Amino acid sequence: MMRRAMFDSGKEDAYRIICFEGAFHGRTLATLAATGNPHYMEGFGPVVEGFDHVPFNNMNAVRDAIGPQTAGIIIEPLQGEGGVRPAHLQFLRDLRAACDEYGLLLGLDEVQSGIGRTGKLFAHEWAGIKPDVVAAAKGIGGGFPLGAVLAVERAARALGPGTHGTTYGGNPLACAAGNAVLDVILAPGFLAEVTRKGEVLWNGLEALMRDYPTVFEAHRGAGLLQGLKCVGPVGTVQAAAQAEGLMVITAGENTLRVAPPLVVTDADIAEALAMLRRAVAKVAAPAQAAAQ
Ligand SMILES: Cc1ncc(COP(=O)(O)O)c(C=O)c1O
Repeated sequence: MMRRAMFDSGKEDAYRIICFEGAFHGRTLATLAATGNPHYMEGFGPVVEGFDHVPFNNMNAVRDAIGPQTAGIIIEPLQGEGGVRPAHLQFLRDLRAACDEYGLLLGLDEVQSGIGRTGKLFAHEWAGIKPDVVAAAKGIGGGFPLGAVLAVERAARALGPGTHGTTYGGNPLACAAGNAVLDVILAPGFLAEVTRKGEVLWNGLEALMRDYPTVFEAHRGAGLLQGLKCVGPVGTVQAAAQAEGLMVITAGENTLRVAPPLVVTDADIAEALAMLRRAVAKVAAPAQAAAQ
């Protein structure tokens, strides 16, 4: 959409998109290229051209990468797969300003961070910015397969009838599921509860990290998407958690990813923290013995 919008505005050569190290945008050929991680690209043939990767949260690198062929910037406000790494709010504001300065489009991938996950409907709201294009999925269907692209008129009109499409686009059943999810998420008080429960989880994980410095070295995230960077292999911690009955997944940078459902209760959080604490105690025992 961003490329096509540039084409429509007469900038036919402006097709390059600036992306970030640690990004994950999907597994179609173009989104693999936007992801830029050789691990995912191996074996899928020539990489789609036109995606320039720069370090995350580094505005000088972004400015250096902007050229006459740049169409826009795509970023996850909170990198999920990359290791639960939040973009600095000022960085997001600076990206918006740079896009305005150079006439570029700002596209946000809110597939993981959106639909209430961080305590706002979209994570970029914390920075107070207005993006041009937003990709949403995962939580938007509450488990039912649904994805959506939101865009300002300038970008949206580039995909008029006949320019783009998909067999299942606009599927009424999926949209009904999405509507039902939004009824819950936008109900008064729901997002404030996500923020509050995120703080409860945050405090519990902080305490765990303080108590087990041989297991965890960093804690980051927002709302109900939090990550613990592990000292030893994250897989060991994940397996120990699983043995206690707690489902947690891993992310880049050796990070344990904690992403409970938004309807999680305080009792669930307390139980999950207790399970994780038991698991971590088992992992820590040999590490602490070795340190002595
Ligand atoms: C931030 C982000 N963007 C995009 C995607 C891609 O979704 P899909 O693989 O369904 O294209 C994911 C999937 O995990 C994601 O986390």
